[in-house]
Amino acid sequence: MKTTSLFLISLFAITMFMTSCGGGSQPAADQAATAVKATGPYADLPADIQAMMPRGEEIYKTKCTVCHQTTGLGIENVFPPLSKADYLLADKVRAVAQTLNGSKLEMIVNGKKYTQEMLPQVDTKEDAVAVINYVLNNFGNKDGFVTMAEVQDLEIKPRKK
Ligand code: HEC
Repeated sequence: MKTTSLFLISLFAITMFMTSCGGGSQPAADQAATAVKATGPYADLPADIQAMMPRGEEIYKTKCTVCHQTTGLGIENVFPPLSKADYLLADKVRAVAQTLNGSKLEMIVNGKKYTQEMLPQVDTKEDAVAVINYVLNNFGNKDGFVTMAEVQDLEIKPRKK
């Protein structure tokens, strides 16, 4: 009788010890999750998209401003807007393709007609995706992003000499 109760008391003590250990680690894990939350203008975007933004900005400022302007508003009936542009937002993969391979279409953007040709602007899909993601999150746009996976089947057309 005495040995049985001693055994039961030790079993109870061991159980308590193990339970308290398991419960104790929970709040620490919650704190870690809160600590890594990102801040800044692109905080709500996935980390790989955020990482493209400096490159996208550099490309925009060196290659696109001459026509689409520093505001992204373009020049009415000559260079279409990229800021709040219905045509751009209707198809993000098409926008990457046009930046990569150029475009020679008659297009209506926000109700205005554009007919001039745009030559290819960048040489790699990485650069085209980076600059379009920059455009999608600047100039008053807050319109998500396009991934490398979405453009994996896109063909890079041979450049005109
Ligand atoms: C030399 C002038 C010029 C430059 C430089 C230029 N574009 Fe364009 N862009 C145009 C013209 C003109 C069109 C209309 C093409 C058409 O009608 O097919 C256009 C159309 C577009 C479109 C589709 C229309 C829209 O409003 O969504 C996108 C996207 C675009 N450009 C992105 C870019 C990006 C990004 C860059 C810089 C990497 C760039 N462009 C540089 C002249 C230019």
